Amino acid sequence: HRPQIVDNHGRPLTYVRLAVTDRCNLRCFYCMPAEGIDYLPKKQLLTYEEMECLLQVLAGLGISKVRITGGEPFLRKDLTYFLKQVKAIPGIDEIHITTNGVLTEQYIPDLVALGINSVNLSLDTLNRERFLKITRRDEFEKVMQTYHALLANQIPVKINAVVMEGQNIEDIVPLAALTKDHPVSVRFIEEMPFNGEGQHYPVLTWNYRKIIQELQTAFPALSRASDAPHSTANHYTIPGYKGNIGVIAAFSRTFCGTCNRIRVTAQGGLKTCLYGNDVLNVKEILRSGASETTLTEELLKAFNSRAKDGYEAEAQRPILLPVFESMSMIGG
Ligand code: GTP
Ligand code: 5AD
Ligand code: SF4
Repeated sequence: HRPQIVDNHGRPLTYVRLAVTDRCNLRCFYCMPAEGIDYLPKKQLLTYEEMECLLQVLAGLGISKVRITGGEPFLRKDLTYFLKQVKAIPGIDEIHITTNGVLTEQYIPDLVALGINSVNLSLDTLNRERFLKITRRDEFEKVMQTYHALLANQIPVKINAVVMEGQNIEDIVPLAALTKDHPVSVRFIEEMPFNGEGQHYPVLTWNYRKIIQELQTAFPALSRASDAPHSTANHYTIPGYKGNIGVIAAFSRTFCGTCNRIRVTAQGGLKTCLYGNDVLNVKEILRSGASETTLTEELLKAFNSRAKDGYEAEAQRPILLPVFESMSMIGG
């Protein structure tokens, strides 16, 4: 019998997203300024031991899925060692990772040995020049190599493509066309206001409706498919194609009603909504020598006062937009 916590809106919490570093080897303009962000000193990051301890407590409360994010997770030293520790925690059934694919290929044998459940690969374009323009680094070939190696090793792969006016609109159709021959899920994501520069996003040109229209025009046979429970993406398929296409309304926030996830930032802050503030300093609690019971109580308190949706979470911020956070701190 497994315990299951439910938040103050009746939503079961089963999924934690853990950012293991704030560092990145790319500079995607929707995530970070060109000069990067002020990286945290190592002492301010949770240690692997602290993360493991936290995950044990969360597993005891019913969290069964962990997604490792960053920054770029593979920049953290000995990541695969940590993944093995996580996998061994009783109650943790699934382990996934979101990576930019630059350093990932060499770790694929470890991921296979571990039984990783899936890898989400950030890839906004299939064109080398546009990749350089978006990420400010010339690493397209390495990411493509990782992509093909993941497929060759039968690791379930999802591609994350942030849709940006003036940047990669011409990539929507070719990215979707990857699903013809590859068993991949290609997800198009609305751009969110987390580029670390406090940029305003009053309107979003490429919202999910427009993305779907673009896909329907190119693929008239596109049809709506079913979504896994708690999925952020709405899924579509094209008859005869091996993969599927997803559209994530991350800015429009259409999926808050079934949100089952919490987040832990690289510096050990707990977020109960992507759009909200840190609601608990887990690092401080862990380092204060508090008991597991105290940590559990504090977590439960936070889970019991979750915002209903991203709009409500935003409204609770002391300063309304602009948002100066970088996605590499929050972990997406
Ligand atoms: P799985 O469902 O486990 O595949 O994860 P995911 O699709 O949520 O994770 P991934 O790391 O691949 O993120 C895909 C995009 O969805 C990113 O741009 C995330 O920031 C966004 N996203 C993930 N969770 C949320 C959320 O709770 N709210 C909003 N608004 N966006 C989210
Ligand atoms: N808006 C939408 N998605 C973003 N990501 C990073 N920054 C943003 C943003 N501003 C995506 C990346 C990565 C995922 C975790 O978050 O593409 O795949
Ligand atoms: Fe790095 Fe991901 Fe941010 Fe790009 S979106 S700079 S790959 S953390």
